[in-house]
Amino acid sequence: MPNAYDAAYRHSLQDPEGFWGKIAEDCHWFEKWDKVLDDSQKPLYRWFTGGVLNTCYNALDFHVDDRGRGNRTALIYDSPVTGTICKYTYSELRDIVAVFAGVLSNHGVTKGDRVIIYMPMIPEAVIAMLACARIGAIHSVVFGGFAARELATRIDDARPKVIVSASCGIEGQRVIDYKPLLNEAINISKNKPESCIVYQRPQKQAILVPGRDTDWEAATKSAAPVECVPVAATDPLYILYTSGTTGQPKGVIRDNGGHLVALKWSMKAIYDIDQDDIWWAASDVGWVVGHSYIVYAPLFKGCTTVLFEGKPVGTPDAGVFWRVISEHNVKCMFTAPTAYRAIRREDPQALLLHNHDLSNFKILFLAGERSDPATIQWSEKHLNVPVIDHWWQTETGWAIAANCMGLHAFPVKYGSPTKAVPGWDVRVLNPENQEMPAGEIGALSVRLPLPPGSLPTLWENDQRYIDAYLKEYPGYYKTADAGMIDEDGYIYVMSRTDDIINVAGHRLSTGAMEEVLASHPDVAEAAVLGVHDELKGQVPVGFLVLNAGIEREPGEIIKEVVSMVREQIGPVAAFKKAAIVKRLPKTRSGKILRGTIRKIADNQEFKVPATIDDPAILDEIRQVLAGIGLGQTDK
Ligand code: COA
Ligand code: AMP
Repeated sequence: MPNAYDAAYRHSLQDPEGFWGKIAEDCHWFEKWDKVLDDSQKPLYRWFTGGVLNTCYNALDFHVDDRGRGNRTALIYDSPVTGTICKYTYSELRDIVAVFAGVLSNHGVTKGDRVIIYMPMIPEAVIAMLACARIGAIHSVVFGGFAARELATRIDDARPKVIVSASCGIEGQRVIDYKPLLNEAINISKNKPESCIVYQRPQKQAILVPGRDTDWEAATKSAAPVECVPVAATDPLYILYTSGTTGQPKGVIRDNGGHLVALKWSMKAIYDIDQDDIWWAASDVGWVVGHSYIVYAPLFKGCTTVLFEGKPVGTPDAGVFWRVISEHNVKCMFTAPTAYRAIRREDPQALLLHNHDLSNFKILFLAGERSDPATIQWSEKHLNVPVIDHWWQTETGWAIAANCMGLHAFPVKYGSPTKAVPGWDVRVLNPENQEMPAGEIGALSVRLPLPPGSLPTLWENDQRYIDAYLKEYPGYYKTADAGMIDEDGYIYVMSRTDDIINVAGHRLSTGAMEEVLASHPDVAEAAVLGVHDELKGQVPVGFLVLNAGIEREPGEIIKEVVSMVREQIGPVAAFKKAAIVKRLPKTRSGKILRGTIRKIADNQEFKVPATIDDPAILDEIRQVLAGIGLGQTDK
C-alpha cells in the first residue's frame, strides 16, 4: 500500500494538470482557468492561464464572507522589543487592509504598478503587502537590514510608484532610523517614486519631506475601503530581490494563481496545519520565508499566524521562543537553524524552557541553511517533538524537499531534508546533463516544468532567467546547490555551486561584496569567501591585494573596507574580517582558488590543486588566516 506521500508524489509528476487542477478547486476564483499548465512558451511555463482571482480575497475576504470565519484570529503581533501583543481577526484585518488599499489608490496606485515596502516586522508591513495584492499592485518588500544603496538598486529596477516605509526599526535594544536610509536611497536612485507613505512609530518619529511623504495614519483617516480587483492568475503578485552572482540582485517574480494553489496546499501537506491551528514562522517579511509563511500561506489556509518582532536571544533572553509558543498556543514553528544555535549557546541546558508549557507544540521546522545534526538533536532532546529540516530557495517560493508531515512522516536522517515534495522532480546531474547514480554528488536540479508557486521568470528579464537557471542543464532548473540522493530517495544538500553564502540564514553574494572592496582606491584585487561560523553558519572574510606603492597602515584600510560593506550592502552582511595579502592563490588560467582558501580557513584537509600557479602562496594565506583567528592557529 503506498502511503499518502508516495501516492501524491507519483500523481504530481505523472499528471501535473490533474494533480494541481484538483487542488486549485479549494481556492476562490472569479473565473476558472482555461489551462492548468501552459507550456506554449517553453522553457517558460505558466500555471492556470485564463484563471482570474485575487490573492487578498483568498487570504482575507474568503474566510470572512464565504466561510463565516471572520471572528477567527488571523494575525498575532508579538513584539518583545516594544512590549506589545496585539491580535487581529480576519474581519478586522480585512477592513484595515481594504482602507489601506484605498490609501494606495488615492496615491494613484493601480493594477500592475509597483510598490516598494521597506518596513520592520510590524503589522503595517503585512497590511501594506495585502493592500497591494487587493488592488493588483505588485509589491517588492526590501529587508530592513539592507543599506541605502541596496534599496536604491531595487528602486531603480522595480520603478515603484509609491514606497511604503516606517520611521524606525528596533534591533534588540537599538532603535534604527529607517527614514534617513530611505531618503538617501531615493536621492541616489534614478527612478524616483512619486510618493512615500510613512508609518510613524512612537519610538522615533521621522521628519516627512513635504510634497513627497504622507503620514500613514493621516492618509488612512481620509481613505475609503476598496474591493478586491480581479487579476489574471499569471499576473505578478510580487517581486522579491535575491542575491545573484553580481551586485545586481535578481528580481524573482511570483504569480498570483500558482502561488495561491501551491502555498495553501503546502500548509497541511508539509506543515500539518489545519484552519484552527496557530502557526509561527520566525523570519522576516523581507525574506521569502516571511512572504510565504508569515503572510500568505497561513492566511490562505485560514489559520492564525504569529508576527514576531524580536530575536531568539536578547529580547529579553533565550527563553522568548518558548514564551511565544506557550503564550499563543503555537502548534508548529518554522525558523532558521542559526536561531536555535543562538538559543543553545546562551542556554545550553534549555533551563528557560522549564518556565513554559509547551504541551501543545507539535513540530519544529528548520530551513534557510544546512541544519547541522547537533542543532537538530539538541532541539529534539529539549523540545521532545520532531525537528524537520526542509530545503528551499527564494526562487522556488516553497519547499523543494521536506518530510511532508501532513502526508506521511518518514524517519529522519540527520543531514537530509528528506524527500522531494510532490511537484518537484529532483535529479542529480553531472556536467554532461546526465543523471548521477544514487549516493553520488552532483548538481541538484529540478526537471521542468517547476510546480506552481515557483518563479515563472525574473522581473522584466526572461533572458536572465533562462541564462541563470535553465541554460546549463537543458530541460532542468539549476538550483545552484550541490548534493546527492541516496538509495531511499533522501536528498542531501551539501553546498552552493556559486558564490552565494548563507549568513545567519540570510542569503548574500560574495561577488557583490567583492565589488564593494574592489572600489576602494587602494585595492587592486579582492576576494570574499564564506568561512564556517559556529553561530551564523558562515561569515564572509575578505582578502585584499593592494595597489603597488600603498604604504598606509593595513588596519586602517581594513577598517575602511569593513565600513564600506556595511554602508553599501548593510549590517546584515556581517562583514567584519578582512586581511591584506601580497597575491591571491590562482590557477594558471587566473581563477581564484576560493575553495582552497576556504578549506584552509575552515581547517579542513585539502590537496594543493595541480593547476595552481604558485603553491608557495598558500603558506602566506595560512599565516594571514591565523592572524585573524582562522584556520590552523598555533594555540
Ligand atoms: N534592520 C536593521 N538592521 C538589521 C536588521 C533589520 N531588519 N536585521 C539585522 N540587522 C542588523 C543587526 O542589528 C546586526 O547589526 P550589528 O552588526 O550592528 O550587530 C546585523 O544586521 C546582523 O544581524 P543578524 O544577522 O540578525 O545577527 P545578530 O548577531 O544580530 O543575531 C541571530 C544573530 C542568529 C540571533 C539572528 O541572525 C537570527 O535571529 N537569525 C534568524 C534568521 C532568520 O530568521 N532568517 C530567515 C530565514 S528562515
Ligand atoms: P534563500 O534563497 O535565502 O532561501 O537561500 C536558498 C539557499 O539556502 C539554498 O540554495 C541553499 O543553499 C540554502 N538552503 C536553504 N535551505 C536549506 C536546507 N534545508 N539545507 C541546506 N541548505 C539550505
